[in-house]
Amino acid sequence: FAMKTLRCLFFAGIIAVVQGQSCTTYQAPKDFFFAAATAAYQVEGGAREDDNSNGDIACDSYHQYKVDIQNLKKLGVKQYRFSISWPRILPDGCTKSFNWAGIDYYNNLIDELIDAGIEPMVTMFHFDTPTTLGDAGGWLSRDIVDKFGDYARVLYKNFGDRVKNWLTINEPLSISTWGYCGLTGVQAPGNFSMQCPWSKYLSAHYLILAHAKAYRIYDFEFRLLQQGKVGIVLSTGWYTPATNSTDDIAAANRARDFALGWFAEPIFFGDYPQSMKDGIASRSALEGYTKSRLPEFTPLEKLLLKGSADWLGINYYYGFSVSNRVTFPYGIAQEQVDGATDRNVLYPYPQGLRSVLNYASQTYKVPVAVTENGYSDGTGTLDDTIRIDYLRDHLIATLQARQDGANVLGYTVWSLMDNMEWSSGYTVKYGLYQVNFTDPNRTRTPKASASWYTNVIAQRSVNS
Ligand code: NOJ
Repeated sequence: FAMKTLRCLFFAGIIAVVQGQSCTTYQAPKDFFFAAATAAYQVEGGAREDDNSNGDIACDSYHQYKVDIQNLKKLGVKQYRFSISWPRILPDGCTKSFNWAGIDYYNNLIDELIDAGIEPMVTMFHFDTPTTLGDAGGWLSRDIVDKFGDYARVLYKNFGDRVKNWLTINEPLSISTWGYCGLTGVQAPGNFSMQCPWSKYLSAHYLILAHAKAYRIYDFEFRLLQQGKVGIVLSTGWYTPATNSTDDIAAANRARDFALGWFAEPIFFGDYPQSMKDGIASRSALEGYTKSRLPEFTPLEKLLLKGSADWLGINYYYGFSVSNRVTFPYGIAQEQVDGATDRNVLYPYPQGLRSVLNYASQTYKVPVAVTENGYSDGTGTLDDTIRIDYLRDHLIATLQARQDGANVLGYTVWSLMDNMEWSSGYTVKYGLYQVNFTDPNRTRTPKASASWYTNVIAQRSVNS
């Protein structure tokens, strides 16, 4: 790595793409943003200080946010993606139970960020549901759609004068697939249902409607005055056909529909992809059900959904090779490209990110941004050259997509710091900063990747 960097330094500062003998410099356009991300439950802690939700200390960002902002400043990022904790704002999910200490916390965080010259990029829902709403059925109860709308209104009212980059929901696919259907209920909220195939599509349906509700509330009540943009964060891999056969190509397209299209098509076109409607209806019928497991949108819902995002965040980590196999659900057999098996040792497939960004930008005709991309290890080592390689390749893929003509707004590293990785707890680390979880202050120390990112942002270019 060091040799490569030395060779490449020779070419640094060159405007536009310059092909050198040993490396290529990719320059970021002027309006391209660099960012880093976290999420409330994964970093804040302080969960019991001013509300009734469960939680622990995590990175103690609830008290250490000024340190976080200093660290963001050192990186030189233009935006910080963080999430607001719904239970911290509305402990029992309804607007009668306001928690002013929570509002104060986010006001302070937002003000301090803006003073540091960093724009807030705010996710409204990153997996933490108020317990009362969870007990009432969570994302399996239609009532949550209106509750989410009320919550979004509270956020726009209190923070919309300063927050211009909103993201309604983080990774609805993960919530539905792993939170409401995973075999062991592994992702938040860990609601393993015996009705799994139904709960998966039902929870996704309400997540999509909740997104549209929050978007239209902004349209009708806030957009004129606040002039921000509201989008959603979708997680997707990239699905390449295992061979050039027509069947494998069709299977790869189906895989993409069942991941990205599942949410993006309702949001941009007003309905689920045809391949999902057909596939799920015939599978449900085969299993003896008279009704498809995939719920239907009413004509009014379709209208409200269509075009309900000003921008689209993409969380990308890995790619898949897909083949058509009749014995697999919907004929989709997929494996991580090159057979990487361990979820925490991600096999890098950066060209997949380039393809996703091109595909999403062209298909949905919307500005897109990488809202998460990152590499985890189990040690949190400061000498994280593998992470640097991973980030470098994916940032290059992002800039290449932009050169290809995709409307790519920016790139966000997951994560600013090591944090609580859901079902893996503190054993899996994605941070640019290492966090000492045994130290009461949760001291943060920059890894080699933090210095690398600082240089990239300062130069606004990255060398291959
Ligand atoms: C997905 C989620 O948005 C985030 O919460 C998680 O920590 C990372 N990606 C890594 O798994």
